[in-house]
Amino acid sequence: MTQTIRLRVNGAVREVGVADDELLCDMLRQRLDLTGTKVACREGVCGSCDVLYDGAVVRSCLVLACQADAASVVTVEGLAEDGCLSPLQQAFVETGAVQCGFCTPGMLIAATAALCEASADWDDHEFAEAIAGNLCRCTGYAKIIDAIRQVVATGGTR
Ligand code: FES
Ligand code: FES
Repeated sequence: MTQTIRLRVNGAVREVGVADDELLCDMLRQRLDLTGTKVACREGVCGSCDVLYDGAVVRSCLVLACQADAASVVTVEGLAEDGCLSPLQQAFVETGAVQCGFCTPGMLIAATAALCEASADWDDHEFAEAIAGNLCRCTGYAKIIDAIRQVVATGGTR
């Protein structure tokens, strides 16, 4: 069975036909061509499929696409504005926080949400907490935390 859902994705209203058992991550990648969202474990463990869902970080492998009817979803592609990287994306580039890049979209989504709550007195604990639910096999996390620290130090929120 399929059904048509209507949702907002990266600010644009989209109507999408989805199967009843289709996952949100697969809909984003395969029907909307938003392949920035990565899929690894498919069981909610790694964080590579994170998206912002009505403003909260959600594992898109744990959500049925049909559940997203009327929702607002932001993927990593939606973090840039007018072709410019967000401050956090730029900080990832500048600090060398990306190696293979597979975890990067999820890291950016999780840290972007966390930075909305950031304050100038954040220390290493808060920097690490911002990405505590996301796994990276390459970087050892230090450069990713450097990127988050850089954004906080410059007064950025994303
Ligand atoms: Fe969704 Fe790993 S693919 S949490
Ligand atoms: Fe490769 Fe994180 S950069 S998994």
